[in-house]
Amino acid sequence: MKTTENKNTTGKVKAKSSAAEGLKELFIDELKDIVYAERALVKALPKMAKNASEPKLIAAIEEHVAVTEGQVQRLEKIFEILGESNRGKKCDAMEGLIKEGESIMEETEAGPVRDAGIISASQKIEHYEIASYGTLAAFAKTLGEDEIASLLEETLAEEKEADTLLTESAYNSINFEAAQEG
Ligand SMILES: [Fe+2]
Ligand SMILES: [Fe+2]
Repeated sequence: MKTTENKNTTGKVKAKSSAAEGLKELFIDELKDIVYAERALVKALPKMAKNASEPKLIAAIEEHVAVTEGQVQRLEKIFEILGESNRGKKCDAMEGLIKEGESIMEETEAGPVRDAGIISASQKIEHYEIASYGTLAAFAKTLGEDEIASLLEETLAEEKEADTLLTESAYNSINFEAAQEG
């Protein structure tokens, strides 16, 4: 994104006269960021599932891979509605979160502790997505793109559900005592 700094003497950035157009540009830019992130997750999540031990956690991650593939398609539909290319733009945040997930796996023994690490990493990912889609849906509404807003809200609901599944169902079923006895 190009930024032209327009500062007055107080150091405050003056709003451009093209502010509404700017929001659309920012919106498209952030859509490119999240489509990159989702495509990266389609590749990264199966590795997390392979390294998990608790069946409920494996199932939750595997289900979310399928959901994530659907989310990529939903984003591609949004780009189509906007008449924009669906090429992603490198998302540094997601790259970092995925890398962090990989190092958590390296730093934990397979079993309950690694499972807890995988949950921790994937929740950070889910929360990044929840923040992104919440913002994107709000941007879409502001821009009067109601059809796109409801598509983004569908994904937002899925991310929240994944977050709940990971905390409530998967985390509660991890047996730490058994690991300590063993
Ligand atoms: Fe997602
Ligand atoms: Fe997600």
